[in-house]
Amino acid sequence: MTDTARPDSAGALLTCASEAQGLLRLELADAWPELAAPQWLADGLALVPLPGGFEPFAAEVKRVAPIFLRHLAPVQTVQPVTPFRGVTGALKRGLEALEDLAPSDTALAVQIRHVVERDGSACVERMTALEREFAPAAAEVTHCLIETAYPERIVSALIVGDRLLMGISDAAANISTWPGGERRFQEVDGQISRAEFKLLEALEAFGVALPASGVALDMGAAPGGWTRVLLEKGLSVVAVDPAKLHPSLVRHERVTHVRARIEERLSGAAPADVIVNDMRIDPRQSTAIMLQASSLLPPGGPAVMTLKLPDGGVTDRALLATVRAGLKRLEPAYLVLGARRLFHNRSEVTVALVAGGDRAPVGE
Ligand SMILES: C[S@@+](CC[C@H](N)C(=O)[O-])C[C@H]1O[C@@H](n2cnc3c(N)ncnc32)[C@H](O)[C@@H]1O
Repeated sequence: MTDTARPDSAGALLTCASEAQGLLRLELADAWPELAAPQWLADGLALVPLPGGFEPFAAEVKRVAPIFLRHLAPVQTVQPVTPFRGVTGALKRGLEALEDLAPSDTALAVQIRHVVERDGSACVERMTALEREFAPAAAEVTHCLIETAYPERIVSALIVGDRLLMGISDAAANISTWPGGERRFQEVDGQISRAEFKLLEALEAFGVALPASGVALDMGAAPGGWTRVLLEKGLSVVAVDPAKLHPSLVRHERVTHVRARIEERLSGAAPADVIVNDMRIDPRQSTAIMLQASSLLPPGGPAVMTLKLPDGGVTDRALLATVRAGLKRLEPAYLVLGARRLFHNRSEVTVALVAGGDRAPVGE
């Protein structure tokens, strides 16, 4: 239930998938029992007061890496928004209040979102037109270069009712440089499925370094979105799935379709330089397969998998325990680079791994 009370305190804005609110609340309570309960301003957007300030909290978030937290933004000033003085005036006053926090000449992004009512519930939306309109004023007040794609610092602004919540942080503190962590990709010609965005987002979010050539083992490959992404990255792909691949992949010279369940083909399988796994199966089974497959990778060989979450009938506490147990089970064979419910995930968590196996890395 959305709390529409006015946010008055300084703190942080936390974003998660709307169905992950309970899971994020549990993760916050586990890691920081002293933290006040999040105040939900909209679906998947909460404000938490931070008496100790934003930066120490952001450093802690980096250490703990909550799985269901998608984006973090500071609130360091709250400005009234009146019909008379308007949003632009409030944004300017906010920036002036934060001026000390924006060293001149840094590459600065200004991200503006607002809470709106849609079909009886509060949602948060990006205001790209206002971001563009406000950019010259932001450059003038801060003496910074406005840079949307690769900012060093980010001004985050949220309009909620008659208040503007605003803060500045290092881009790295926000978890994602995309407003609210909503990483958008352009659809491209030849794209097979929207699942491609899931892999692209994972590679970027976890900084996964794929080799420029070699073999990727794609477990649960059909219809072939991830396979297509891996081909684009220069890899050959062994695509294992009992289901059909997209016609564009069927006769591709760098694709071998093994039309079977992976369990039937793992023993004696050829080595791989990369493993990906998007199989819609139980997380325990999926991690067991990943453990077995780890010996196919060289030490340091990357792997990306999705841990599928049960749809309903399970408490958030049990669900969180399932994910944590899954990650723990992977530890004997892999270093877990990160595990998060990313923007393009649905009922799943993406996990990025690096193998600790005993095969020599590609090119050695
Ligand atoms: C979510 S889809 C994968 C989508 C794919 N990543 C893409 O980008 O097109 C899940 C796939 O896992 C496959 N799958 C489920 N169990 C499997 C198993 N034991 N071995 C191999 N594939 C399996 C299903 O047939 C299904 O095609």
